[in-house]
Amino acid sequence: MFKKVITVAAGLALLGGMTACGSSSDGGNGGSGGDGLTMGFAQVGAESGWRSANTTSIRETAKKDGVDLKFSDAQQKQENQIKAIRSYIQQKVDVIAFSPVVETGWDAVLQEAKRAKIPVILTDRAVDSDDDSLYVTFLGSDFVEEGEKAGQWLVDNAQDADVDKNGDVNVVELQGTTGAAPAIDRKKGFEDVTSSDDAIKIIASQTGDFTRDGGKKVMEAFLQSHDDIDVVYAHNDDMGLGAIEAIEAAGKKPGTDIKIITVDAVKDGMTALSEGKINFIVECNPLLGPQLMELAKKVVAGEDVPKRVVTEETTFTQDQAKQVLADRQY
Ligand code: AHR
Repeated sequence: MFKKVITVAAGLALLGGMTACGSSSDGGNGGSGGDGLTMGFAQVGAESGWRSANTTSIRETAKKDGVDLKFSDAQQKQENQIKAIRSYIQQKVDVIAFSPVVETGWDAVLQEAKRAKIPVILTDRAVDSDDDSLYVTFLGSDFVEEGEKAGQWLVDNAQDADVDKNGDVNVVELQGTTGAAPAIDRKKGFEDVTSSDDAIKIIASQTGDFTRDGGKKVMEAFLQSHDDIDVVYAHNDDMGLGAIEAIEAAGKKPGTDIKIITVDAVKDGMTALSEGKINFIVECNPLLGPQLMELAKKVVAGEDVPKRVVTEETTFTQDQAKQVLADRQY
């Protein structure tokens, strides 16, 4: 079923002494195919609408497939994810899956999993390691491409985006979590493409940690220190939605006085896009549960899987958002 690289349309008491992060065990119900398979999943947190949809997809698919899912929420802290992974190793789960909050610092714990002969699947985000034997496969988006799509829209719409018509398109960037793959890659992709147009200038760039509150606070500060902002590029919808609140509180009209580009396309983002408050959204699909469980079953059965599985994604203009909003699943 899997080719070399697949593209697909998408979607206990775990830790003795670990009270900071939520954890649970969703007993498999003998559904199709995963009977008896135990998966330990170390989630990043619940920082965004995207993350909540991702968690729901994983939990629901595990239940449907009869996978015994041990789930932990690391509250966006790497140390909590590492503790969770160690706990899964101790529990001798069949497979560990996780979405690394940041790219670096995983080699030691992944070596421990390897020594215990427990396969690891990366989902959503990658790790930065020289040793790719530390994980079996990586399922998730191409974040550089997402940044490129955001940048290309701005290049194509630069004249319109120059709201004050002074010849410069001044961009403020709301970055995701510092050190996280989507923050690094979405920045890179956007810069690679927009650097072809001298008029486009990133005048400020700061992390909003992928949260609505973070986006709002950083945008408030940007509005105080810059009176010439034409465009907000937010690495996710939630930070863009926070920026909208800050822009409206400053007496400006989001989407008109200041253009907004975001990534994700969750329902709240798509609603704001259809209302004209956001100008363009690059999709990042959170519904990874079905592909993750398929990969896990194959890995545990000793079958070959591709090293990289890229999710297929699209983009949305305001008109396109109006057309698809009613059927949006998340
Ligand atoms: O890793 C995916 C990113 O993480 C999503 O774009 C963002 O909303 C989430 O928090």
